[in-house]
Amino acid sequence: MSEQSLEPERESSRNLGSLKPAIAYLAPYKLQIVAATIALIVTASITLSVGQGLRVIIDSGFGSEDPELLSSSLLLFGALVLGLTAGTFARFYFVSWIGERVSADLRNAVYSHLIDLHPGFFETNQPTEIQSRITTDTTLLQNVIGSSVSIALRNVLMFFGGVVLLLYTNPKLTAIVLGSIPLVIVPIILFGRRVRSLSRSSQDTLADVGSYAGESLRNIKVVQAYNHQGADIAEFDQRVESAFQVAVRRIRQRAVLIAMVMLLIMGAIGAMLWVGGQDVLQGRTTAGELAAFVFYALIVVGSVGAISEVWTDLQRAAGATERLMELLAAPNELPDPEMPVGLTNPEGAIAFDNVGYVYPTRPTVRVLNNVSFKVEPGEMVALVGPSGAGKSTLFDLVLRFYDPIDGAVSLDGHDLRDLSRAELRDRIALVPQDAALLAGSIRELVGYGEHISDVDDGQVKAALAKANALTFVEALPDGLATVLGEGGVGLSGGQRQRLAIARALYSNPRVLLLDEATSALDAESESQIRDALLSIRGDVTVIAIAHRLSTVTGANRIVVLDGGEVSAVGPHAELLRTSSLYARYAKVQLEASFEPDSDSDSGSESVKSAS
Ligand SMILES: Nc1ncnc2c1ncn2[C@@H]1O[C@H](COP(=O)(O)OP(=O)(O)OP(=O)(O)O)[C@@H](O)[C@H]1O
Ligand SMILES: [Mg+2]
Repeated sequence: MSEQSLEPERESSRNLGSLKPAIAYLAPYKLQIVAATIALIVTASITLSVGQGLRVIIDSGFGSEDPELLSSSLLLFGALVLGLTAGTFARFYFVSWIGERVSADLRNAVYSHLIDLHPGFFETNQPTEIQSRITTDTTLLQNVIGSSVSIALRNVLMFFGGVVLLLYTNPKLTAIVLGSIPLVIVPIILFGRRVRSLSRSSQDTLADVGSYAGESLRNIKVVQAYNHQGADIAEFDQRVESAFQVAVRRIRQRAVLIAMVMLLIMGAIGAMLWVGGQDVLQGRTTAGELAAFVFYALIVVGSVGAISEVWTDLQRAAGATERLMELLAAPNELPDPEMPVGLTNPEGAIAFDNVGYVYPTRPTVRVLNNVSFKVEPGEMVALVGPSGAGKSTLFDLVLRFYDPIDGAVSLDGHDLRDLSRAELRDRIALVPQDAALLAGSIRELVGYGEHISDVDDGQVKAALAKANALTFVEALPDGLATVLGEGGVGLSGGQRQRLAIARALYSNPRVLLLDEATSALDAESESQIRDALLSIRGDVTVIAIAHRLSTVTGANRIVVLDGGEVSAVGPHAELLRTSSLYARYAKVQLEASFEPDSDSDSGSESVKSAS
């Protein structure tokens, strides 16, 4: 059975029990469910009663040749149609409403769970994959709850009502109808399953098409700079074609299915008319009864077909629910402690104590090893070292994006694992290496740590001024209200960096983490920011990562990190003597101001060499 399913596990779940958690999301909407159920029952009963109406109209109206009766039957018919209209409206409205509501609630639940998860989760689980779960899986559930379930319920009602009325109208012919039911179910189940799996894989190939287009269009300048358009067109065309091929296979299966069901149903009706027609001719039954019977037979067979078609929908929904519940159940590997240590007014002392770290995605590489150093409150400490030494990773540990596998990181002597994450991060501000800005106005960006209605323009301006960004922001036509695109589009690299610094300063942190915060700035802007940092010195603990040593020479101490280990610690002047790695850096970068120490060449090699 699974040979036609391209991705049977992803596709659907045989176990409809997995739908149970989704049902829990229905609980708050009992009122709407009651309304939808009433509407379902009313419309099903009216539809069923149409058959009886048909019988009365044909037999009494035509048969008795009494125009009065025909008129009154038609009046009744009109009333039923009105009831059916109102019922259909209510059924459609409430059922779809419930579907939309539940999927909206699920989206919110999944998103609010994910946004607080440990960042490592998104390294092992692709954000784009998660994004598609939040949209497509919830949409699937919405369709199923908002239509398939109601189709199923309505048709179950119609099936039982129809069978009862069939038996009541003509027990002998009922046997023919019930006997033909398997003829409808079998092809629907066989072909239906193939159609479903093909439609899922056609969704996947289409998603592929979309993501390819998205990526190349986002990076349009790189694409065109390398004259890569031709290759992109060919690659894109290949994806479009394979989506088309899958679609054609799906259409073919679907066409066969429809034609076959048509043939079988019409065949069964023919047989019924033949048998029933003979009964009419021999006076064993009336024409009206036969008409009513055919009507019910169509309802019964149609309802069986509808149920078996939505059955696979339900299975897919079960699969979607399973995947969503998996996301909801993903545990936070860095949870808050049960009784967090309160941080009322932290001093801002940071200490690394024999810290070791390994990224879970690369378990054989020890990124940090035995890292120990202290930063006293109000001190400025610089972190230098070659690219890939583990500097940014150290910052991730201070923000508790990861927990060290050995040793501990502490704030004011409290292991970070004993603090509430929100409280910890409230006191720390990070200027990340890639100045990641989110879309929004400059006012929103700088006041990011606060609710937008609490953002104070005066403070925003003060932070911008310290970050040496006020002049360029005020020169923008819309000033603070200037809206930037995703990733800070609309600004130069250095302008983005200064906004990121302003954002950090705005939040009035106790501890400020600067990761290459001024790497894109000209020397003058950089020195202004350095002055700003010097002015907060003593109040704020600053740890600054920098490749440019001019940024860090004013630091109280400099930690040289190399290959995940601390290779030297000390003030600039001392490191020039004690660390050959640092001395080499300094020699290359500060050529002009560098005054060779008499013994720096033979300098005491207290530390591991960089080579
Ligand atoms: N998410 C990750 N998963 C696996 N390995 C990672 C991850 N992030 C970083 N690494 C690896 O960890 C090591 C340290 O990375 P880190 O970003 O801390 O270096 P860095 O000192 O900040 O370098 P740079 O100066 O280039 O920014 C590198 O070898 C890097 O390849
Ligand atoms: Mg880095």
